[in-house]
Amino acid sequence: MAYGLLKGKRGIISGALDENSIAWKVALRAKEEGASFTLTNAPLAMRMGEINKLAEHCEAKIIPADATSIEDLEKLYTGSMEELGGKIDFVLHSIGMSTNIRKGKEYGDLNYEWFLKSIDVSALSFHKMLQVAEKLDAIENKGSLVALSYIAAQRSFPDYTDMAQAKAMLESIARSYGYRYGKKNGTRVNTVSQSPTKTTAGTGISGFNAFYEYANQMSPLGNASADECADYVITLFSDLTRKVTMQNLFHDGGFCSVGISEEIVARMEG
Ligand SMILES: NC(=O)c1ccc[n+]([C@@H]2O[C@H](COP(=O)([O-])OP(=O)(O)OC[C@H]3O[C@@H](n4cnc5c(N)ncnc54)[C@H](O)[C@@H]3O)[C@@H](O)[C@H]2O)c1
Repeated sequence: MAYGLLKGKRGIISGALDENSIAWKVALRAKEEGASFTLTNAPLAMRMGEINKLAEHCEAKIIPADATSIEDLEKLYTGSMEELGGKIDFVLHSIGMSTNIRKGKEYGDLNYEWFLKSIDVSALSFHKMLQVAEKLDAIENKGSLVALSYIAAQRSFPDYTDMAQAKAMLESIARSYGYRYGKKNGTRVNTVSQSPTKTTAGTGISGFNAFYEYANQMSPLGNASADECADYVITLFSDLTRKVTMQNLFHDGGFCSVGISEEIVARMEG
């Protein structure tokens, strides 16, 4: 159901790789809620071409940008403001990548160049998105920026390796920049810590099926789907959450607050 929550708002949505991507679902919901926005992804990801389908459906221009490149981000904001006819009300950072995970490196055998790349792509890019936006004065008063995180920022998940540090930094950037941007023009900066979700980035982590099932059985509401994540992110872009900032918001069916569930007890005893 649509509520017109983003009527008249202008946005930038990064990270829609294919129809499983969380960003893809956010774009569909943002369109339904009346927003106009641009889509962006790394030039390499564009080659897959899937994003064109989404752009057509959402009547959205695609502006390629490597989120680690200041120059690309400058073009992204100026191009988006030109295309949409004004400053930006909301931005989704839905970007994550670890070559160490991709290549199956253990935590005691990480490649440090790749580690730095993970930090740059998955965390520092959020700071860059914020800093470039501030310098260009690209965000409308009381705007909202959201990045997607994971509970491995707080708790140990062995196969998440260097992404755990990247997510911890991402959440810290939301707090520090949230303070700064809040003072400047009421802009909100938050992270949403989402349940394990079956996407390209998610399923790339070894043992994914196990921790997907584990989280599902631990959470009283079950895992949150990508569609449900999109619903939640839309509320954060809307005017209904104008005093929510500098938060890491768990969107995980209650997982983060559970010690053990009856389902897991039954399994252990069975
Ligand atoms: N899938 C999960 O289980 C899960 C759980 C919690 C949080 N998240 C987070 O959600 C976000 C989106 O991931 P997803 O699960 O939808 O997977 P996804 O693979 O669909 O999206 C990841 C996106 O990051 C983009 N990307 C990678 N390097 C980039 C760069 N240099 N510049 C710009 N874009 C780049 C990819 O092209 C891709 O579109 C990530 O931050 C991820 O860590 C995912």
